[in-house]
Amino acid sequence: MTAVPVVIGMRAPSAAVLADAAPASQGLVDTHGRVHRDLRISLTDRCSLRCTYCMPEQGNEWLARTSILSTDEIVEVAQVAASLGIRTFRLTGGEPLLRADIIDVVRRVSRIEGDEGPVEVAMTTNGITLAKKLPDLIEAGLTRLNISIDTVDRQRFADLTRRDRIDDVFEGIAAAAASDLRPLKLNTVAMRGVNDDELPDLVAFAMEVGAQLRFIEQMPLDAGHTWDRASMVTREEILEKLSARWSLEPVPGRGGAPAEKWRIDGGPHEVGVIASVTAPFCGACDRLRLTADGQLRNCLFSNAEYDLIDSLRGPAASDPAQRAAAIGAMLRSCVHGKLPGHAINDPSFLQPARGMNAIGG
Ligand code: 5AD
Ligand code: SF4
Repeated sequence: MTAVPVVIGMRAPSAAVLADAAPASQGLVDTHGRVHRDLRISLTDRCSLRCTYCMPEQGNEWLARTSILSTDEIVEVAQVAASLGIRTFRLTGGEPLLRADIIDVVRRVSRIEGDEGPVEVAMTTNGITLAKKLPDLIEAGLTRLNISIDTVDRQRFADLTRRDRIDDVFEGIAAAAASDLRPLKLNTVAMRGVNDDELPDLVAFAMEVGAQLRFIEQMPLDAGHTWDRASMVTREEILEKLSARWSLEPVPGRGGAPAEKWRIDGGPHEVGVIASVTAPFCGACDRLRLTADGQLRNCLFSNAEYDLIDSLRGPAASDPAQRAAAIGAMLRSCVHGKLPGHAINDPSFLQPARGMNAIGG
C-alpha cells in the first residue's frame, strides 16, 4: 500500500457532530447549497483489467471479502439515500459485472422509489462480459450505460490494460449499441504518448456505433501515484485535436453534468470532455460515493471517509429503524463535510490513498 499520510477510514462522527448536520426535513444539501441527487455505488474493487492509470500490475491489496457490503446492505443504504433525495444510482467498481449477484443488485436497486418516482440505475463498466449479461441487466431495470474504452488499437489496449481483451470490449459495445439503452456513453481517458494521436478515431468509432464519447482528463488517482501534470492531455488539447477534423459547436445547458459537450459538424453527433483537472466543475457537483467496503465519500479526491459499517453491523443495527436513522445521519454528515472543491491544482494537494478501483468511478 501507499505511505501517503492521509486519514482514511475515519470513525463515525459523534452525535454532536451529527446533530450539527442539516435538519431531517431537508434533502442532502451541503453547506454550499449543493443538492445531492446522485450516489455512485462501488460493488467491488476487483477488475478484469489492470489499466495502468488505475491499478498496479501486481500486488494490489484487495479489500477483505468480509468487509464488502452485502446486497441487503447496499439496498438498505440506497433506500435511505433515495428517501433523502437521491434519484440516480450509478453502479461502478472496479468492474461491477464481476459481482456474482449483479443482476440481483440491479433489480433490487431499480425497484426503489425516489422522491420523484422510479430511480435511475446506471452502470459504468469496462464492457467485458457485458454482451452476455446485458439482456438480464436490462430486464432487471438498468437504464443507462457508460463503457470505458481508451483505444481501438489491439496492441495498445493490451499494453494499457495489461490484458489482451479488446474483442470482449467490442462485443460489449456492440451489444449495448444494439439495445435500447440511450444515451449510450463511452469514456476515454486521454493520455500523452498513449492514445493522444487517436482521439478523433475514437470519436469516429463512437459515432459509428451510435454512442457519445466523453474524454476524461487523467486524474491523480492511480494506485502507483505516478500521475504527473505533463502527461495529462488537457481539455484545450483535446478540443484542438478534434477541431482538426470537425467543426465543434458548444452545446448549452450543461446543468450539473461533469461533461461539457460539443456538437460535431452541426450534429446530430456530440462529443464530451470531462475536464476535472483544468476546468473543475465542483460548484455544480451533486454526487456522493459509497465504496464497496461501506465508506461514504463526498468527493473522489477527499481524504475523509464516513464509515457506515457500524450503522449497518454495530450493536444498534438489529433494529431496522435505528439502522435507517444511523445511515441517514451518516449520509447527512458526509454531505455536511463536503468542501467547495477539490485541490488538485493546489501545491499542497495529497492524492487519496485509495486508487480509483477502490473508490469507484
Ligand atoms: N483519471 C481519469 N479517469 C479515470 N478512470 C479511472 N482512473 C482514472 C484516472 N486516474 C476512469 C475509467 C472509467 C471511469 C470509471 O473512470 O477509465 O472510464
Ligand atoms: Fe478496471 Fe476501470 Fe481500473 Fe481499468 S480503470 S483497471 S477497467 S477499474
